[in-house]
Amino acid sequence: MKRSKLVFIGIVMVLILTQACTQNKPNATNDLDRKVDSVLSLMTLEEKIGQMTLFTSDMDQTGAFIRKEYEEDIKSGRAGAIFNAYGVAYTRKLQEMAVNNTRLGIPLIFGYDVIHGHRTIFPVPLAEAASWDLTAIEEAARIAAIEASAEGLHWTFAPMCDISRDPRWGRIVEGAGEDVYLASEIARARVRGFQGEGIGSLNSVVACVKHYAAYGAPQAGRDYHSVDMSERTLRETFLPPYKAALDEGALTVMTSFNDLNGIPATASKYLMTEILRDEWGFEGFVVTDYTSIMELMFHGVAGDTLEASRLSIEAGVDMDMQAGFYQKALPQLVRNGKVSEELINTAVRRILKVKFMLGLFEDPFRFCSEEREKTLVMSADNLEAARDMARKSAVLLKNENNLLPLSKDLKTIAVIGPMADAQRDMIGSWSAAGDWTKSITLLTGIREAVSQSRIIHAMGCTTDGTDMKGFKEAVDAARQADVVVLALGENYWMSGEAASRADIGLPGVQQELADEILKTGKPIVVVLFTGRPLTINKLQQHAQSILLGWFPGTMGGSALADILFGDFNPSGRLPVTFPAHVGQVPNHYDMRNTGRPFDANNKYTSKYLDVPNEPLYEFGFGLGYTTFEWSELSVNQTSMSEQDSVKVSIQVTNSGLMTGTETVQLYIHDPVASVARPVKQLKKFMQLTLEPGQTGVAEFYINSLDLSFFRADMSFGTEKGNYMIMVGPSSNTIRSAKIELI
Ligand code: GLC
Repeated sequence: MKRSKLVFIGIVMVLILTQACTQNKPNATNDLDRKVDSVLSLMTLEEKIGQMTLFTSDMDQTGAFIRKEYEEDIKSGRAGAIFNAYGVAYTRKLQEMAVNNTRLGIPLIFGYDVIHGHRTIFPVPLAEAASWDLTAIEEAARIAAIEASAEGLHWTFAPMCDISRDPRWGRIVEGAGEDVYLASEIARARVRGFQGEGIGSLNSVVACVKHYAAYGAPQAGRDYHSVDMSERTLRETFLPPYKAALDEGALTVMTSFNDLNGIPATASKYLMTEILRDEWGFEGFVVTDYTSIMELMFHGVAGDTLEASRLSIEAGVDMDMQAGFYQKALPQLVRNGKVSEELINTAVRRILKVKFMLGLFEDPFRFCSEEREKTLVMSADNLEAARDMARKSAVLLKNENNLLPLSKDLKTIAVIGPMADAQRDMIGSWSAAGDWTKSITLLTGIREAVSQSRIIHAMGCTTDGTDMKGFKEAVDAARQADVVVLALGENYWMSGEAASRADIGLPGVQQELADEILKTGKPIVVVLFTGRPLTINKLQQHAQSILLGWFPGTMGGSALADILFGDFNPSGRLPVTFPAHVGQVPNHYDMRNTGRPFDANNKYTSKYLDVPNEPLYEFGFGLGYTTFEWSELSVNQTSMSEQDSVKVSIQVTNSGLMTGTETVQLYIHDPVASVARPVKQLKKFMQLTLEPGQTGVAEFYINSLDLSFFRADMSFGTEKGNYMIMVGPSSNTIRSAKIELI
């Protein structure tokens, strides 16, 4: 029998003995801790540090370089975790290396960026946020977890909980937009989906809250750039979604690349210990982002490997992703007395605990089931769920004269533009193991939806090239058509990591193409594919209809065709403001009023000389194919105490001809407080799906927590006085009522 098997049996015997003799020890914590301590007691310093080391395999590349020796690292116990490796056969092979070659046979944990689906790819996270459908968002994460775990994965590096108010930043695509409340609720839903039936269930994966903290606010929207913000902004706007995900039970946290007010997150004891552990009580483990420990040297807070490693372990970082610095430096730091071995033990306990919770010590191969891999991945139900989410994520931005929905009896439809048949782009960035060759493009979706119509396809131009030779073919196609569907936008790689854009207009010569097509006078429906808000002012001005499809995932083309031809009434609402000009950025709905709020009749008020203050499309905006009538807002009482709550209700009637879903949004404003408060903040929302003629009632209960904020002295709580309650279908379309906190 292999040596390591004997050792493994030894571990089990130690566990049983330990269990027996500590059974009644008064200080014995719990069974899991006892098991972890039993294994820890057997480990050498190098074996402990191996557990704190995460390397990528060469199956996928999500960072600068790939270390080729990862299999040697596994066999030698120098790596206890591997990412970017998936598939039952491959993860089994690597797990066998760990279990059969290392002295103690401690199993590996496998992580991967399963961000918006594993094989079945859902719309990008920002698109999912536009659905405002927390049940569907949770279901999408649930399916991702089932598919990922069926392919041997234990851990996903998601949800990304970074608030972002800067569309120049490419990773805005990965989050849930600009709003604290919506992003927090979505973070919770995603953790519920990933960790589902509990860690240890075969259908669950460990969630990882990232990128902690405030990575979404880089200077000038430039990825990896410095972040500077007040304590109030940090705590009021950027921290809540991370906290919400942890409150939902997420077991790991990933440090962010950025410095926060000059201290790199990976070296920040304030973030990694004082807030995360001492204030929030987090007990899982912290992993860095890709080579972040090494990057402390570029930040300029560490002069060498030893210093960078010491800063990180002392800040509270448990696992080193891809730098290999812990592996190189920690043994020497401990032996020289520069770092206490107790810090190492604490980190290793946290990591081993998660591996025990996953059941990997009982059976390191429990996630390696060929049967599950064969039956659970890209099932018809999963694909239908992805199509449903893509329908719910799309946002109808304009629909002049109700051009949409299109008739299925149209004789000729021209489908023009670089995004019409862009199969790879459909699944967007961070699409993990998604197979883009299986994604449905808009062109395919339209062809399948109206097989009797004549479909003429012309690319016209590429997304970012300058060549206009294709314009003629495109204009000719338009001239032959009853309607033109113009598919424009960004490529998938123009958003995501290391993909900031200073100009957020349509790339290349797409606007010039649109101008030529507009000259034909044909009715034009623009379908926009993008991972960020774009300044599409000219399209808004001249195209009859605009449908925002984002990057809609594997089933995107089918879902968008469902909307174009009226098989689904679009219900998406913007989770992020679309600025009218990049010069307005940051331009978010919940700004403060300033001492000189804009007044068109007063020069000396807050505005620009050359562009409006208003965005192109506001947070919460979206149109549909039906109409809704709203009653006045009613409150059951006009004052409340701290212990009280006020019931707010409003009636919504579907006054149109199609069933539709309205997202009722409730905002709050505190007009006079010890600090200037945002002009409005989203605090509640709910969705009403109403048949034609049906009336629904949206009811909300406002309590003192909803009215609380960080006061002038940074204490968190309420202040007595008047509050405005505003309810409506968007942040700019509201009915209001006043209540008083007494
Ligand atoms: C990347 C990303 C992070 C990802 C990690 C592993 O650089 O910043 O979001 O989880 O590396 O791929």
